[in-house]
Amino acid sequence: MEKKSALILGIETSCDETALALIDGKKILANITLSQAKIHAQYGGVFPMLAKREHAKNLLPIFKKILETANFLIPKTKSPKSEKLQEAKSCKLKAILEREPELLEQFLEFALTIEKPTIDAIAVTKGPGLEPALWVGINFAKALATIWNIPIIPINHMEGHIVSALLCQNESSKFQVPNFRFPAIALLISGGHTELVLMKDWFDYEIIGATKDDAVGEAFDKVARILGLPYPGGPQISRLTEEMRTSASTFRKTFPPIPLEWNGHAPTPVFRNVLPPFANTRPFVFPRPMLKTNDLNFSFSGLKTAVLYLVKKMDKLNDDDKKNIACEFEDAVTEVLITKTKKALAQFNAKTLIIGGGVSANKNIRGAFENFAKQNNIKLFISSRELATDNALMIAFAGLLRLKAGRTKTGEKITAQGNLKINDDNVK
Ligand code: KG4
Ligand code: ZN
Repeated sequence: MEKKSALILGIETSCDETALALIDGKKILANITLSQAKIHAQYGGVFPMLAKREHAKNLLPIFKKILETANFLIPKTKSPKSEKLQEAKSCKLKAILEREPELLEQFLEFALTIEKPTIDAIAVTKGPGLEPALWVGINFAKALATIWNIPIIPINHMEGHIVSALLCQNESSKFQVPNFRFPAIALLISGGHTELVLMKDWFDYEIIGATKDDAVGEAFDKVARILGLPYPGGPQISRLTEEMRTSASTFRKTFPPIPLEWNGHAPTPVFRNVLPPFANTRPFVFPRPMLKTNDLNFSFSGLKTAVLYLVKKMDKLNDDDKKNIACEFEDAVTEVLITKTKKALAQFNAKTLIIGGGVSANKNIRGAFENFAKQNNIKLFISSRELATDNALMIAFAGLLRLKAGRTKTGEKITAQGNLKINDDNVK
């Protein structure tokens, strides 16, 4: 790849995180993520129009903060000529941000009053995600690109997750993407996606497996809800299981507490007296959906239903019951993810594994894949826990990689694409 340093602003608003980041080549100048999770918690999930409103409200204050952090906040000196130019620009801005009146107002008050920073390009998530939420980020990018006359690099959110897994910090705290061998398999596990992707080269993706129903993060969130835990449920389940797995008395240490090649299918939870012998310390076992199918697809809705049936059968859940359910659910998910990923690596003779998406923050899943990679001589790249969930740094770095490779698609008319696929931008 051609070596070129560039100052890039990353914008991410695909779901319920409003995030902006500024990078200068490999160096991070500023990175802020504001989660709306608490606001959405009352609805038990993300409410798209509320997410849009919150993005529109929060983008400008975050923008000011990152410019301040990077020392880019320089007030503009006024001249009659510049005032005329301002007027012309504000007309254009009104058209771009007409659907975001709150953002427009803040934008006109602030963005036109500062000097243009030395930013070279804006990388913005164009999909997949919630379209009303995506549009806010895209229109914000368009407004900035108009006043600063710089290009926009549209980024696929899932590519962002891949890039965040690849980012390594060197001794001088600079981020870089290390060398690795293609083909690589990427396992993308988030709130909206569960996919196995074959990467034959940079920016060359093929979806080789996907969930038939719920995404794995969605299953975490739904199971948490069944257990009476707030949204987002993944971190809640993670917290419960970490407590149980670290307690001295438990048999549930690190994964796998049962053999990976477990072939006993349980369509519904089975209780202790009918368990296979190796699992006789577990109070119940959940199914491992599609574990033995020949394809690389997943299904998690049956697993969630198994949890629901079990909880309905139990009288009242005490803390230990919740922890046991959370651990068993996590073990079932982990076993399925490992088995299918192993199959994909073998099928495509790949020695590189990339894991990204919010669920990759899960300690048990991380530990299991780290063990698996060591035992099978696989080079594993997994997002750091901080960068596993949605952020703008991954979007800015994806923009940088595309810029360096001359694969930016900057001329494209950018629209929000809720169902964008990772391979939609492959060069045909
Ligand atoms: O990638 P992400 O931030 O947003 C999407 O692109 O969907 O992923 C969010 C998902 C949520 O479902 C959340 O519950 C899950 O990631 N998640 C976790 C953990 N942290 C976040 N799931 C399991 N364990 C975690 N520690
Ligand atoms: Zn995501």
